[in-house]
Amino acid sequence: MAAYISHSHTPTFHFPTTPLRTLLSFKPKSSFTLLCSHRPHYTPNHIPNPNYVRIFDTTLRDGEQSPGATMTTKEKLDIARQLSKLGVDVIEAGFPASSQADLEAVKLIAREVGNVATEEGHVPVICGLSRCNKNDIDKAWEAVREAKYPRVHTFIATSEIHMKYKLKMTKQQVVDKARSMVEYARSLGCDDVEFSPEDAGRSEREFLYEILGEVIKAGATTLNIPDTVGYNWPREFGQLIADIKANTPGIENVIISTHCQNDLGLSTANTLEGAYNGARQLEVTINGIGERAGNASLEEVVMTLKCKGELLGGLYTGINTKHIVMASKMVEEYSGLQVQPHKAIVGANAFAHESGIHQDGMLKNKSTYEIMSPEDIGLYRSNESGLTLGKLSGRHALKSKLLELGYDIDGNELNDLFWRFKSVAELKKVITDDDLIALVSDEVFQPKVVWKFGDVQVTCGTLGLSTATVKLTDDDGKEHIACSTGTGPVDAAYKAVDLIVKSHIKLLEYSMSAVTAGIDAIASTRVVIAAENDHTTTHASGEQVARTYSGTGASMDIVISSVRAYVGAINKMLGLKKLSN
Ligand code: KIV
Repeated sequence: MAAYISHSHTPTFHFPTTPLRTLLSFKPKSSFTLLCSHRPHYTPNHIPNPNYVRIFDTTLRDGEQSPGATMTTKEKLDIARQLSKLGVDVIEAGFPASSQADLEAVKLIAREVGNVATEEGHVPVICGLSRCNKNDIDKAWEAVREAKYPRVHTFIATSEIHMKYKLKMTKQQVVDKARSMVEYARSLGCDDVEFSPEDAGRSEREFLYEILGEVIKAGATTLNIPDTVGYNWPREFGQLIADIKANTPGIENVIISTHCQNDLGLSTANTLEGAYNGARQLEVTINGIGERAGNASLEEVVMTLKCKGELLGGLYTGINTKHIVMASKMVEEYSGLQVQPHKAIVGANAFAHESGIHQDGMLKNKSTYEIMSPEDIGLYRSNESGLTLGKLSGRHALKSKLLELGYDIDGNELNDLFWRFKSVAELKKVITDDDLIALVSDEVFQPKVVWKFGDVQVTCGTLGLSTATVKLTDDDGKEHIACSTGTGPVDAAYKAVDLIVKSHIKLLEYSMSAVTAGIDAIASTRVVIAAENDHTTTHASGEQVARTYSGTGASMDIVISSVRAYVGAINKMLGLKKLSN
């Protein structure tokens, strides 16, 4: 049988040992959670309370531009709902001109999230990105217009480098284009228009004052100042915001915003310095995902404002930080971009204390080594709850454990997870937290099923070729079986899957880890695939990029785990393809 799976990266098998974590219980602090009720009424160009800072989340737009982070419409909708629950003021839901799938996803989010009040009565603004041209603006407006608070965000580059080499336009042409396109967006009936001078961090000051003054006259309501290439350092970026505030005609009638990329690792610091100098909208992403080194991370910016808002002149946000962990996990699963263990706030080690000196201090008084409590971000892990899951555990125990881990899962998803948990608990005496996290990943955070995993049988070893037989069910319920040989059992199984789904797939990345120690560990697999001759998507930079799709799977059997991950990635790919056709 033809072998066409290409491994551009050698498959890696990692078997990390689980670190010893000291997980202590904390009493929740009450000081912050009520701040949501202080959220001022939304007016596009004005915030009545000068200390209130709007949080603009661009996980679904800039975040999705990270390589491999392609998300399906359902995944984007789930994330948008979680962002709304989190209390994000503005959700940049996508770049509608980039593809039909993106347009449809933004439209759905505008309808389903942009009209539904949270328990606190909050409805987020839904924003669509566009370059400065009529086609992009028409698409962005078409996508967001059904939201209660729709916003169009249009941008054009203003640095010498970008104008000369990318746009090939003079300064005057750029000013004319920006002014006329903001006017055009307003003429469509959109009364909330954000304008960004791309690469503002490297743009000439006087030119920035001029173009910003012109777009204000044309009707822009928010002026976003991007450090597009992450080149500024905090004092420099803070001064840029202060100078724009002091020198741009009409600036008192609009909101100043920041958008800091993380190329030098300074995005959070730059964003906060921007707020200190007068910005009242901060553009961020969950887990800091985004182009290249990513963006300022929502959790870092928001938790710094929470911990140090007083020092920053009393600045505060409307974010309900207890939903941060769930948002982080959801974005990690759906984007396939794993959070590094030492990531501030949401990394697995962010609240772990390993050294004896630290553990001793923590036992005496938690404030010795903790500047915030895990409960503040929705993490309720504790030794003292004593909840160990096993085959006799019921739904309620499972739900409580999930909440401890930051997962707020109900309804059918909880039900399906419960039966999956039961089947593993039959084989494994104790289900650890890490086992459960792997099962949640495999069962809950999966794309819509096009092909359903059925069975897999392999033979392998030194005495002959590896062979695999795979059974998948299509969305009409029909079973399909294929057999293949391969260089190993996983390769053989993937080739059998390819024969069933009849798509030419490139396997770009494959990694497997055992989530707990021991022979009965659950294996977690992550793959990234691309389809040969697949459609491309347009980045905000105008570049055409091939889409890649990630998938995860978990099982006590490494071949099953591998096939689940592969089928998950294929489902994601086919789901998006259907929308684009
Ligand atoms: O980084 C950037 O400049 C952007 C703009 C479109 C805001 O993403």
